[in-house]
Amino acid sequence: MTDGDRLEGLRAAVELSPDNHALRLVLAESLREAGETGDALTEFERVLDAGALPRDEAIQVGTDAAHAGRLQLAARCLELARNSGVIGGTAGLEDLLTALLADSGAVRRIDGPEPDDSVTRRVSVAEEARTFADVGGLDDVKQAIHRTIVLPYQRPDLFEHYGRRAGGGVLLFGPPGCGKTLLARATAGECGAPFLNLRIEDVLAPYFGVSEQRLHQGFDEARASAPCVLFLDEIDTLAYARRNQRGAGVGRAMVDQLLQELDAIGADNRGLLVLGATNVPWDVDDALQRPGRFDRVVFVPPPDTEARRRVLEIALRDRPSVGIDLDALAERTPMFSGADLCAVIERAVDAAIDEALTSGHEVPITQRHIEVAMRSARATTLDWLRTARNYTEFANEGGRYDEVRAYLDQREMRKLLRR
Ligand SMILES: Nc1ncnc2c1ncn2[C@@H]1O[C@H](COP(=O)(O)OP(=O)(O)OP(=O)(O)O)[C@@H](O)[C@H]1O
Ligand SMILES: [Mg+2]
Repeated sequence: MTDGDRLEGLRAAVELSPDNHALRLVLAESLREAGETGDALTEFERVLDAGALPRDEAIQVGTDAAHAGRLQLAARCLELARNSGVIGGTAGLEDLLTALLADSGAVRRIDGPEPDDSVTRRVSVAEEARTFADVGGLDDVKQAIHRTIVLPYQRPDLFEHYGRRAGGGVLLFGPPGCGKTLLARATAGECGAPFLNLRIEDVLAPYFGVSEQRLHQGFDEARASAPCVLFLDEIDTLAYARRNQRGAGVGRAMVDQLLQELDAIGADNRGLLVLGATNVPWDVDDALQRPGRFDRVVFVPPPDTEARRRVLEIALRDRPSVGIDLDALAERTPMFSGADLCAVIERAVDAAIDEALTSGHEVPITQRHIEVAMRSARATTLDWLRTARNYTEFANEGGRYDEVRAYLDQREMRKLLRR
């Protein structure tokens, strides 16, 4: 079948069912591909009239229309794109379209602040003063990150020499509040590399195709800054397991896009170090954990006694305190997350401030304030660990949760979880 035949077939089909907008859209796109711009625009306009023009088409159709001098249509498309927020990722086209329209006098040029259309946030090294020393415990995790992220960045020569590919990523997972995000930020400070934070909420858009495009843009921004670290936090929002998707939804398309970016189809990921984090690893697609993608999956456990002591020490540094028994406090807070421990200290600080206000003079934080704070404290990691235990027992394909299983199999852990 020639392209001409195909177009004829499509035209006939649309004539038979003129209200089938999806079909008309296919016709419009085929006409555009065949270079029959005028006819294509006419069809696009009818789809637009029916309120069925996809938002992410609006910019392209609008630009074509502006070039073809069909300014009314161009202006309508621009309005649609603006109203639906698609503009973000395609600001270049918007500018072009706005300029074309302004030149022709069809619409007023809308002056405003330059849109910040970057989807990654650059965390400068100066701003990120944190290093691994600011993260309590987690020595194994730090070592894994050092090997996979920091070292390739600092010593590319070594990696070259041994023919080891720098690249691939590390996925951190574990219960909430145990330092995944903190670790990622410390990694930036540790290697002195540019560190790009891809904010998931900036990528997700309610319109078909736009989220994928923004994700692609984020990776492109990172490739342009390579060597650098690209941090994808809460990666589960971006990559729900395909089994949790009914049919081929938008989520599925995002997973595929992420896989493509990690595989760098049609692009080069050299010098791009990807760090991901999640507290629902069972919702993250298995396909993301193959070699070259997130090939190191690292468990970030709740802090042990040593680490808890260190977290408390970090939380109390630069604050006036007297006679607090940190060792004892670390002993009596098993399974507290780093965030839980920080919350205890914050509440103790509040108690000290209250006392200072009533007594009229400054009071250091003491064991007494800690006791007040401990009354309402509890460990928040237990629920997560119980859920994880189910997965290690019933869904441990390929041994992906072996590390967690070993952790949960420790005697004292079993005792704690039984309670
Ligand atoms: N190991 C640690 N050392 C020092 N502080 C810690 C540690 N773990 C957690 N904290 C404190 O708890 C806060 C929350 O930690 P963080 O945001 O890194 O947790 P997370 O693992 O990313 O949690 P989530 O899964 O909910 O995103 C940190 O900002 C820090 O103050
Ligand atoms: Mg986090």
